[in-house]
Amino acid sequence: MKRKFITFEGPEGSGKTSVLKAVEARLKRRGVDVLSTREPGGSDIAEQIRQIILDIENRKMEPRTEAMLYAAARRQHISEVIWPALEDEKVVLCDRFVDSSLAYQGYGRQLGYEAVYDLNLFAINGCLPDLTIFIDVPPTIGLDRVFDNSRDVNRLDLESLTFHERVYRGYQLLIDKEPGRIKVVDGNRPVEDVVPDVMALIGMLEDT
Ligand code: TMP
Repeated sequence: MKRKFITFEGPEGSGKTSVLKAVEARLKRRGVDVLSTREPGGSDIAEQIRQIILDIENRKMEPRTEAMLYAAARRQHISEVIWPALEDEKVVLCDRFVDSSLAYQGYGRQLGYEAVYDLNLFAINGCLPDLTIFIDVPPTIGLDRVFDNSRDVNRLDLESLTFHERVYRGYQLLIDKEPGRIKVVDGNRPVEDVVPDVMALIGMLEDT
C-alpha cells in the first residue's frame, strides 16, 4: 500500500478512536507500515497545546483563540509527525484533523467556514488527507456515550446540545462539499461491525 493519509472524524462519542485502533491492528497484521496519531496533539508541543484547549477551567477562551490554538497544534503535529511519516511511506491514521476545525470552530462556534478554512490553509500548507472517514452518530447518542463514562469529559463536551447540533450539521455540509474524500460510515453499531466498512473504504483507496 502506497503512502496514505487517512483521517477519522465524527461527533463526540462516535467511537472513532476505537474504530481507528481496530483498523490500525488489522493493517499491521497485513504488514502495512502504519502510524496512528491524534489531534489536537500527536507531538509533545501539540499535546501541551491540547491541555490548554481542553482544560475545563479555561471557560474564558475566546472562539478565535480556540481556532488559532487548534491550528497551531496542527502545524506542529504536521511538521514533527505527519509529514515525516508520509515521507517515510507510512500509512498515517489520524484521529481528527482539519475537518474538526471546520465543523467545531467554523460551524459550532459560528466563526464561518471561510475564516477557519483560510486560517488552516496557512497551518496545513498543502498537507490534506487522501481519505476521511466520518463515523456517523447523532449528537444526542454520542453525548450520552461520553457522559456514560467512555472517556474523560473535556471543555467542548460541556457545550450545549445546540452547539453539538451545529457541529453535526457542519459535518453534513463538509460531506456535501467533498463527497469524494469524506466517506460516511454508520457508527450506530458495535465497533466490530463498523471496522469492516472502514477497511473496505481503505481498500478502495488502495486500488486508486
Ligand atoms: P477528541 O475528543 O476527539 O479527543 O477531541 C477533542 C475535542 O476537540 C473534541 O471536542 C473536538 C474538538 N476539536 C475541535 O473543536 N477542533 C479541532 O480542530 C479538533 C482537532 C478537535
